[in-house]
This record gives sequence, C-alpha cells and structure tokens, in this order.
Amino acid sequence: MINYTLKQLYSFEAVVRTKSFTKASKELFVTQPAVYMQIQQLQKNIGSDIVNIKGKTITPTFIGKKLYQTCLEIIYKLEQTRLDIEQTLNPHTGHLQISVATTTNSFVSRVLAKFKKEYPDMSFHLEVTNRKLLLEKLNNNETDLVVMGEPPSDMPLVTQPFMENPLIAIAHPEHPLLKNKNNSIKVLAKETLITREQGSGTRITIERITGMKFNSDIEINSNEAIIEAVQAGLGIGFVSKHTVKLELQNSIIKQLNAEKFPITRHWYVVHNAKNKLSPIAERFKAFIIENS
Ligand code: PGA
Repeated sequence: MINYTLKQLYSFEAVVRTKSFTKASKELFVTQPAVYMQIQQLQKNIGSDIVNIKGKTITPTFIGKKLYQTCLEIIYKLEQTRLDIEQTLNPHTGHLQISVATTTNSFVSRVLAKFKKEYPDMSFHLEVTNRKLLLEKLNNNETDLVVMGEPPSDMPLVTQPFMENPLIAIAHPEHPLLKNKNNSIKVLAKETLITREQGSGTRITIERITGMKFNSDIEINSNEAIIEAVQAGLGIGFVSKHTVKLELQNSIIKQLNAEKFPITRHWYVVHNAKNKLSPIAERFKAFIIENS
C-alpha cells in the first residue's frame, strides 16, 4: 500500500505547478530542502520517480502526471470543505460567483445590493453574459449560481423558476406601426429589426415563437444599446420588459402591439446538479426567490 501524506501531496502539487522547488517552498512557507525531502519521500513511498529534474527544469513523469491530477482534485475538495466549514461557522461571510443573462442584469444587481447590505462581510463576482456562455460556465463549473431564461432539459442542472420575463417589441414613439392594434409577424418582418447576437436566449426564443429568422444586418449584444438604437429610430427591437420599464414610463420608446407578443418566459435560478451549493450561495438563492 502507498502511504501518501497531505504534506507530500501539497509539496508535489506546488512543485509541478510552479516548476520550482524554491517557488514551491516560498508558497508553502517552508525551506527548499524540506520540499525536496517531501518529494523524495513520496517517490520512495510510490517506488517510482514522479518528477524529472534536468538542470533547472522540473517536469512530472508519466506516473507524476497521474498523481498530479489526483492532487488537484484532492486539494480542490479540501479547499471547498474548508470554505464550507468557515461559512457554516460564520454564515455571513463567503464568496459568491454569480453569472447572469443580460436581461436579468438590472434585477440581479438590485437584489445583490440588498443582499450585501444584509451580509456585509460577503464578497461577490458578478458576470453578465448571454445564454450560450452561461451554459458553458455551468458545464465547466465556473460559477456558483446562474440566473437566466429557460434552461435546457438535457443538462444535469438544478433549476427553479422565480419570476415572469415578458419579451416585448419596442419602437420609436413616432413609429407608424404604433397606430395598429395588432401587427402581424409578416408586417413586422418587413421592418428593420434590431436583434441580439447568436447565442442569446432572447433571440432564440423570438425566432422559435414567431418563426422569424433573423438574418439581420443589425445585431447588438447589449440590451441597453438596443434601447438606444430604437430611441434613435434605427428600427424595431426586442427586449425583456423588465429592462425598459423607465423608458416606457417616460415614453422615450413605446411597446409595439404585435402578433405573439408579449412572449412570456420565466427567469430561473440555476446551478450544476453535481455540485453542492456553498452556504452563501444557498442563502442568495433563497434571497433572490424571496425578492422576486
Ligand atoms: P440573453 O438572456 O438573451 O442575454 O441570452 C436571456 C436568456 O437567458 O434566455
């Protein structure tokens, strides 16, 4: 049986990652010979070399590469457990990595501000991006929580709908189609349509529900910029009603009556089913649902 000690595994991980005994020893707050000894001991326990040392170059051997992958997993798990314990002991702290769809940005920012007031010792990183990139993040475990439109059913996700998200068509206040009680999709399709980029959930939904195919010359990857473009009279845009409340109230733009619109969707709070939520992420999930 091979006896590994955590000290040996931490030393080995640091040496392979930094490619240096000196840098590893500084990171681990021990002397360079102490790190060297841990690696020697580990090699003896395993019965095989785990690093090749040629002059100043240190690389893992074939066996070393296998061990390195396991080290990364063990250290990641230990780190997660340490954070989990810290946050359980002091539930007001913790770091939250949250990624949200562009349509949900202003809502989530407001909820985060309120949450931070209740938990001033927590920290967060908020990333705003489109549906395609959100799904990549969930898949690669790069985020704790995601807030987005309808999640796909073929991914291992825990999903919870929490708020309606009506998608509407918007136009300049003097747009001639505003006088019609209902504009057919055929009529709409003849207009200059300002669409979101490929990979946007808003765009995918509108194409699916209306049957329109956006081969538009005008693609804008920001809701705010779409609103600006509509205000400037460039064409008809499609956005979540939640992103244009103020502009509609002030009649800077108008909601256009159009067949199939508003398209009612929901916002979901989502996370990877393979991961246990940290206490702070759990708390924020509940908070977002309460505040919807
Ligand atoms: P998006 O957001 O258009 O920015 O991708 C909406 C969604 O998640 O469906």
